[in-house]
Amino acid sequence: FGNRKALTIENFIMIKPDGVQRGLCGVIIKRFERKGYKLIGLKMLNPTEEILKEHYKDLADKPFFKKLVNYISQGPVIAMVWEGVDIVKQGRRIIGETNPLDSAVGTIRGDFGLEVGRNIIHGSDSVASANREINLWFKADELIQWKNHSTEWIY
Ligand code: PPS
Repeated sequence: FGNRKALTIENFIMIKPDGVQRGLCGVIIKRFERKGYKLIGLKMLNPTEEILKEHYKDLADKPFFKKLVNYISQGPVIAMVWEGVDIVKQGRRIIGETNPLDSAVGTIRGDFGLEVGRNIIHGSDSVASANREINLWFKADELIQWKNHSTEWIY
């Protein structure tokens, strides 16, 4: 288990307005916690169009871009940073596919989502995106590097 620390990375996860309004925050946080991940940043906010246009800038040419920004800017959202081994790839497995119809039962979108335009949660699609998105949504002093003193394990 020697290199576990070296493999530990961070991921940006956001509960979208439909997830918040449907009361799914607790169940979503629980799924990351029980897998063994560590929450190091969390805040609720009403995101501005500016931050959303920057966040989704790679999608600016997509036909759904305006609708997507409008929907998420209705807020509020829960922005989070989770830490742990393979959190970016595992995060996508926990979340499911973009289209809830393609998402397996047992994933967040597979269990709770019905349509692509309201798919509950966002997770970064690569380590590079995660770093960019964490820097966009969080200030350095909003991330807490806490230690579990009872065990060397993260769960
Ligand atoms: S794409 O088209 O391949 O770039 O799509 P994908 O990478 O799977 O999704 C990128 C984000 O766009 C959202 N999306 C949509 N939103 C609204 N309407 C439609 N039709 C739509 N299609 C894709 C999708 O949920 C992704 O957002 P995040 O927040 O990253 O999940």
